Amino acid sequence: MPSILTRLIGGDLAALTADPLGEFVRRSRLGGVVPLKIGVARGHLVSDPALVRHVLLDNIDNYDKHTPAFDAVRVVLGNGMLTSGGSFWKRQRRISQPAFHGESVHHFAPIMSRLASETADAWSRAAAAGEPVDACTDMMKVTLRIVAETLFGDDLAESAAEVNRVFPVILACLAARVSSPIRPPLWLPTATNWRLRPALQSLNSIVEGLIATKRRRLAVRSGPQGGHRDLLTILMLARDAETGEAMGDAQLRDEVMTLMIAGHETTANALSWLWYLLDRHPDEQERLRAEIIAATGGSAPTVDDLPRLPRLKAVIQETLRLYPPVWMFDRRALGPDDLTGTKVARGDLVIFCPYAIHRLPDLWSDPEAFRPERFEAGREEQKNKFAYLPFSAGPRTCIGNSFAMIESQIIVGTLLSRFRARLADPAPITPRPRVTLRTSRPVTLRLEQAPLA
Ligand code: HEM
Repeated sequence: MPSILTRLIGGDLAALTADPLGEFVRRSRLGGVVPLKIGVARGHLVSDPALVRHVLLDNIDNYDKHTPAFDAVRVVLGNGMLTSGGSFWKRQRRISQPAFHGESVHHFAPIMSRLASETADAWSRAAAAGEPVDACTDMMKVTLRIVAETLFGDDLAESAAEVNRVFPVILACLAARVSSPIRPPLWLPTATNWRLRPALQSLNSIVEGLIATKRRRLAVRSGPQGGHRDLLTILMLARDAETGEAMGDAQLRDEVMTLMIAGHETTANALSWLWYLLDRHPDEQERLRAEIIAATGGSAPTVDDLPRLPRLKAVIQETLRLYPPVWMFDRRALGPDDLTGTKVARGDLVIFCPYAIHRLPDLWSDPEAFRPERFEAGREEQKNKFAYLPFSAGPRTCIGNSFAMIESQIIVGTLLSRFRARLADPAPITPRPRVTLRTSRPVTLRLEQAPLA
């Protein structure tokens, strides 16, 4: 229900707030560039893949991220890779990129496997006690632990409980800021700021402490020992290939916050939807279990098994098509542009809604149907990179794409090698667009212990 403030701001905001997904799907089917009026801002909803490409790739330098949504999260993310722009962003991306290449991510796979197994053990105990599990909560927990251990290694151990406590508070406050038409500065004593400030202070001091510890340790050693590199060490040691510069502490803090926030709720969300879809398609669940047994003999798949699990990858990709966690994102024009006849003026917003683009009947046959085979090698539907945007596209595509895919395959593969999962309540679940695309209620699963090995 739109608030009074939203109604007063006027334009399309009230309709878009009342039913964002329905409105974006309906408007994106009108074709071309659809004008949107959001308060005083002019927006353009772009769904045609050629125009998506124009904004995200060909004319990328004409757009930045100073939009209300990105401004709302800057209080936490600072000038990290997700929110920065221009030559500063380019440098940060260049320095960080090697840490996210497929090979580097393989290095983190044992952490993912160990934490996925721990989740499986917890599920085993629940199944033995005849208790259901809450997949949303468990996927949030495991993805937060994975990103935190990947970043900090063992150093986090003593602060882990505090991170687990403050993180949900920070995420909830960010969600409140993004969905509110006004974003008061952090010092104003609003209800949200009242909760956000102490949580953020606590997380900041943990992260700053971890950076300082790591610096001290690196100063006494010439480099990380024994190949046990955590992501923070990699980022600390990285040098810009063009200038030789390294990241300072303040910048490291912003990147660490960014990776924790960008790399955890998104993946958790996708996995919650995946468990829902596997309940709707029990035959698919059996098919995946059969694929795992053929690839591993029945044990939990490791990163080396993943090339033999193409169906599992396709199921994750199809889940990301139907329920893209980043269901909408936007850009601000720095100067005029022309989108096949539609004039874009400096300051205008260009809006992309992957949830709607992934449902365009011209791009996807029978778009509401769950069909992982769309993502089989060589299929036409997935060939246009600018029609499939769960990770966005172009130079600012998600740097954690490979990380998220490998992590998702390992978590789901590990759990499927030990359980069959069905929804405790079979009623349909619908999407709730918040910062990410949440489920309308918890995905509560009843588990059957069904080890393959
Ligand atoms: C299924 C999981 C994920 C999804 C759906 C997702 C989606 C996205 C999308 C759509 C963007 C582009 C946003 C924009 O340009 O406006 C993005 C950027 C980003 N993501 Fe992800 N992400 C996921 C997982 C991760 C993970 C695991 C990490 C890190 C460990 C990560 C780190 C980032 C960063 C740092 C950026 C900013 C990149 C830049 O602008 O250069 N993401 N993500």
